[in-house]
Amino acid sequence: MKDMAMAVEALARKVMNHRVFDHPMYRHWACAPLPAAQSAALFHQLQNFCASTRLGMAFPQGLKNMGLPRQAELMSEIEVSEGGHGPDLARMAGHIVNLAGKERVFDDLDDQAEVEAGLKRYSDQLLADLPGYDRASGLTRQAREAIAVFQQRSRSDPESTIRNLGIAFALELISNRSLIPGEKRALVDSGHYGVNLKDPEMYYLLDHWGECGAEQQHELNVRQAIAGVLNAETEPLVLSGIDAFLDALAALWDVIDSQLLPAEAAV
Ligand SMILES: [Fe+2]
Ligand SMILES: [Fe+2]
Repeated sequence: MKDMAMAVEALARKVMNHRVFDHPMYRHWACAPLPAAQSAALFHQLQNFCASTRLGMAFPQGLKNMGLPRQAELMSEIEVSEGGHGPDLARMAGHIVNLAGKERVFDDLDDQAEVEAGLKRYSDQLLADLPGYDRASGLTRQAREAIAVFQQRSRSDPESTIRNLGIAFALELISNRSLIPGEKRALVDSGHYGVNLKDPEMYYLLDHWGECGAEQQHELNVRQAIAGVLNAETEPLVLSGIDAFLDALAALWDVIDSQLLPAEAAV
């Protein structure tokens, strides 16, 4: 039991030691107010990536097929808790874009489709010339590759399922300890947009951040799930899932950082 706790801890350290964990994009995003167009383009890439991580698809069923009903339950709990996060993220993104520009871009922040279409328009304006940019979705090659990591949840064979568990483990640790705190630093703590965690438009961050936040619970779920399956046979698959996710997200942060964010901290 103690050995298992140490093995899970070693996996967690691997995630936290990856270059994506403390990527410079977080610092660059927070160092100065980001103009409306850049904010919108960033949120378009981020929003689509986040959406791809919410669906369980065949993943819980794959776990059940392997005789891992508890793991299936823990993963389904995460999926259920993601309900409503799409509209919440769109509302926050639209609000930040409204505050970042000289004029209000979005009249109705509750109109998720309208906000998301607006974010894409800015992405097309700023990023369409990048190699591999897809006009139809408005996604960079790097965003599509990060999304493809989660599309492997359409498979329910044992190898894919264990790999998907590694991917989920890394995702939830990054969300809880790197991405959500990074967003909070850039959007709230920086003071650049004059918003507070308690503002209704910022509910997405309030809901995700901190000790009682959704991501904290998700991290507990994936730690518990992985502890029940880690052995000499599964570990290489878990590790390959972890690496695939971390490398894909690092590439996405690289392109966002180099194309949309200021080069170095101005303060
Ligand atoms: Fe979420
Ligand atoms: Fe999560």
